[in-house]
Amino acid sequence: MSARTFSGPIPLQGRVTVPGDKSISHRALMIASLGERPCTIRGLSNGDDVVRTRLAVEALGAQLEVAESGDVTVAGGLRGARDPIDLGNSGTGIRLLAGLLAGFDFNTTLDGDASIRQRPMDRIIAPLAEMGASITGSGGDGSLAPLTIEGRPLRGIEYTLPIASAQVKSAVLLAALRAKGPTTVNEPVPTRAHTEEMLAAAGVRLERGDCSVTVWPGDVDPPDIDVPGDPSQAAFWLVGACLAPASHLIVENIYLGPARGGFIEVLGRMGADISVDSETGDIRAKSSELGGTRVTADELPGCIDEVPILAVAAAAAEGDTVFEGVGELRVKETDRVAAVAEMLAVLGARCQIDGDTLVITGVGRAEALGGGTVDSRGDHRMAMAAAIAGVVGSGSMRVEGFAATKTSYPSFGDDLRLKEEQTQ
Ligand code: S3P
Repeated sequence: MSARTFSGPIPLQGRVTVPGDKSISHRALMIASLGERPCTIRGLSNGDDVVRTRLAVEALGAQLEVAESGDVTVAGGLRGARDPIDLGNSGTGIRLLAGLLAGFDFNTTLDGDASIRQRPMDRIIAPLAEMGASITGSGGDGSLAPLTIEGRPLRGIEYTLPIASAQVKSAVLLAALRAKGPTTVNEPVPTRAHTEEMLAAAGVRLERGDCSVTVWPGDVDPPDIDVPGDPSQAAFWLVGACLAPASHLIVENIYLGPARGGFIEVLGRMGADISVDSETGDIRAKSSELGGTRVTADELPGCIDEVPILAVAAAAAEGDTVFEGVGELRVKETDRVAAVAEMLAVLGARCQIDGDTLVITGVGRAEALGGGTVDSRGDHRMAMAAAIAGVVGSGSMRVEGFAATKTSYPSFGDDLRLKEEQTQ
C-alpha cells in the first residue's frame, strides 16, 4: 500500500498552479466528442478520472490527438464500443456518459472500480428512464454499476431533482440533446453550472433560471477551450496557507464560476485572510487565526468536495464549526462522513455526528493538531486533506493510500515536497 509521511509545520509561500478543473475537463471531452468540427482542449486535467473519460470517448469512436504541449484535439463522432468501458473511480465520468449515450442507437456497458460499483446510480437511471432510456444496472435492485445502456429514442421531460446534484442534472441535460422536445431540470439549490455554460458556448439553445435550466435538442458546435485551474484542488493549498505559520501563497488561474467557490466564503467567515483577483482567477491566502462557523444545508452543495479540507481548517480553529446536510458525503468516493470523523480523531479534534449534521470542535491552533496515521480509504480528497494536516501541524502524519491522489492531482505529493524544500 502506498504511504507517505508529512511533517510540519512548513510555511507555504510563493505561487502554485493546480491541474485543470476536473468537472470542466470531463465535460469538455464529452461535448467535443459530439461536435462535427475538431476542437482543441488546453489545460485538461491530468488526473486518472479524466484520463478514463478520454479513453472512453476514444473507445466510443472520437478521434483524439495529444500534442507535446498536452493540448488535446478531439474530432467527434460516436459509433459505440464493443467492450465494456471502465470509468475507474469517476462518478462524474460514469453518470454523465450514461446520459450522453442514452439517446444513441448503439448499446454500451459502463463500469468502474470497487468504489464506483457501490455508489448509487438509481439517481440517474430514474430520470433517464422517464425520458425513455433503457439502462439496466446491477445489484439486487439494479441501481449499481455496471450499467448497460441500450440506445433508444428519447423524449424531453421536466424533472425536479430530489437532491442537489450537478451530476444528475448534467446526465439529464446531455441526454436532452438527443431527445424529442425540450427538457427542463429544476434544482433545490443551484449546483455547479459547467454543463449549461459549456452547452451554451457550443451553440445549444438553452434557457437558465436561478434554479432551473431548459435545453432544446440540437447539434453542438463546441469551441476550443482553455480549462482553468480547479478550485477544489486550490482549496488544499489555500487552507494549508491559512493554517501554516508565516505563509503567503497565491494559487493561479482558478475557475471562479457559480457553486464552486463556496469554500472561500466559508474560510472568510472563519476569519481567513483570503482574497480573489477576479481578473486573473488568482486566489491569495495568508496565515490566519480561524474561528468556527456554520455551513448551512443550502450552502453545502457549493463546497461539497471541499468538506474534507474544510474539516482540517475546522479542526485547527477556535470553537465549533457546523456542517449541515452532509448526507451526500456518505456516497462520495468513500463514506466521507466516516472518513472525516476518523481523521479528526487522529488530529485530536472533537467531532459529533447527529443525523446529517457534523459538528467539529477545533483545538484552537494548527500547531496543536495531533499526528498519527490516516487511511485515505482510496479517496483522493481524504489523502490530500490528511497530507495538509500533516504539513501545518507540528506532529507527523502518515497517509496510507496516498496514491489515491492520482485520481485528480497526480503531482500533489511532489508539489508539496517542493514547497518543503523551498522553505528549508
Ligand atoms: C461533480 C458534481 C459533484 C461533485 C463531483 C463532481 C460534477 O457531485 O461532488 O466531485 O462534475 O458534476 P454531485 O453532483 O453528485 O454532488
